[in-house]
Amino acid sequence: MDEKLRGINLNNVPRHIAIIMDGNGRWAKKQGMQRVFGHRNALTAVRQAVEASADIGTKFITLYAFSTENWNRPKLEVDALMSLLINSLRKELPDFHKNGIKVNSIGATEKLPKKAQRVLQEVIHETRNNSTITLTFALSYGSREEIVNAIKNISKKVVNNEIDVKKIDEKIINNHLYTFNLPDVDLMIRTSGEQRISNFLLWQMAYAELYFTDVLWPDFRKEHLFDAIINYQNRERRFGKTSEQIGTDV
Ligand code: FPP
Repeated sequence: MDEKLRGINLNNVPRHIAIIMDGNGRWAKKQGMQRVFGHRNALTAVRQAVEASADIGTKFITLYAFSTENWNRPKLEVDALMSLLINSLRKELPDFHKNGIKVNSIGATEKLPKKAQRVLQEVIHETRNNSTITLTFALSYGSREEIVNAIKNISKKVVNNEIDVKKIDEKIINNHLYTFNLPDVDLMIRTSGEQRISNFLLWQMAYAELYFTDVLWPDFRKEHLFDAIINYQNRERRFGKTSEQIGTDV
């Protein structure tokens, strides 16, 4: 067993981990290289984060791979990220199967280049019966845009008498988000020392524990994820209750 795993209580692991993979550009710059060099060196970290999550029994991991705001980056960088997405999804397919990884996506994926959309749909379809862990890529994702879309879709249904305004509740809103088939986030990890949520899963992180590490994303390894889990397990999640109520059903 991995030495670090010994410190982890496998009966209390986050069901859903979300990661903001930040610091690729700075990692590359530190070595006197172009930003895209950092993105190309980010894949080992992606593999390690997903494998480590599966090792401890986490069922859902969601990675912020491309935000709505990332479209504003130089075209060269956007193109490089799209190529990386296409090539790595294709290349990783055998490993997705070997490790029981079911691939999923959230975001305005219709805005991705056609080729990326096609490969993404293929990989989602091919891995649909895998069940060890669901790996969701947030692509062209923005949480506010997601909420705006949900409101539009719910409003249409109200106008068409499919939904009664009085019946609108959290469950109905959940069902109209990209994440309708995912549970709430339990633990959010952001690398590179930045302490922001950056328009990521705002609704879904209502009760998430937030963990920030200075490690730049390309350097992120299994041990860093295990550190985050141990930190998570040392926190008391109260969900608005008192300390005394936790562990009882009061
Ligand atoms: C943030 O670092 C990272 C991104 C905007 C892109 C994330 C993409 C990857 C990890 C590549 C692999 C992903 C897939 C799905 C194949 P940054 O560029 O903002 O770094 P900086 O803050 O140091 O500039």
